[in-house]
Amino acid sequence: MNLILMGLPGAGKGTQAERIVQKYQIPHISTGDMFRQAIKDETALGLQAKSYMDKGELVPDEVTIGIVRERLAKDDCKKGFLLDGFPRTVQQAEGLDQILSDLDNKLDFCINIDVDKEILLERLTGRRICKSCGATYHLVFNPPTVENTCDKCGGELYQRADDNAETVQNRLDVNLKQMNPLLDFYAAKGALKTINGIQEIDQVFKDIDSLLTSLK
Ligand code: AP5
Ligand code: ZN
Repeated sequence: MNLILMGLPGAGKGTQAERIVQKYQIPHISTGDMFRQAIKDETALGLQAKSYMDKGELVPDEVTIGIVRERLAKDDCKKGFLLDGFPRTVQQAEGLDQILSDLDNKLDFCINIDVDKEILLERLTGRRICKSCGATYHLVFNPPTVENTCDKCGGELYQRADDNAETVQNRLDVNLKQMNPLLDFYAAKGALKTINGIQEIDQVFKDIDSLLTSLK
């Protein structure tokens, strides 16, 4: 299964990706996670990405397409993959088509998690993430059992640097501009599947899971 998980910041891509890759045993490729790792490792890529991410802007297309090209060429992607947060512009979508054609591979579906933009600000500012295993929580919508502690591994929770109200607003504006042309791009290929993202987390996963089961 070669899949894209699409949605505005806070739509629930990361939350659902955790569940999808666990059930379907395919690699989770999140460009946001790759950039955050590069920042942590203080690589040249990290340094470049940080200046954009801190402002809530998109990292330039050539850079982003380049890291996805390298990642998709790895052996583990032969059994399928889940792209999360990529593509985010039509130029990236065209880049992905080229990469897959070079690898003699093809996309199956683009799953769009649809959420009204009004509720995203609250989702993002309340998000907390485990330092050790990366699991995602929300102070109100998906709180850990013990405050500030990961249910899965006991790790400490933290807030992402770009989850403050001001940067979140810019991330939403930037992504809203790109979203419709991207959805049109995949709809025109007949590859777009839309899921209602304003439901309980488990129900959103059930809908994605039945979609994937019906497509197999
Ligand atoms: P990235 O890391 O991809 O962030 P994003 O797109 O802004 O998406 P998020 O990770 O914030 O949201 P999500 O949809 O995964 O939501 P989550 O599941 O955590 O990108 C970060 C930055 O990197 C970008 O701004 C850009 O600079 C750069 N970048 C990355 N990719 C790029 C690209 N392709 N091109 C250029 N630049 C790129 O959920 C959010 C919260 O809501 C959580 O607290 C969760 O618990 C809660 N929640 C989830 N689902 C529900 C639900 N159903 N009901 C209630 N609460 C829920
Ligand atoms: Zn953890």
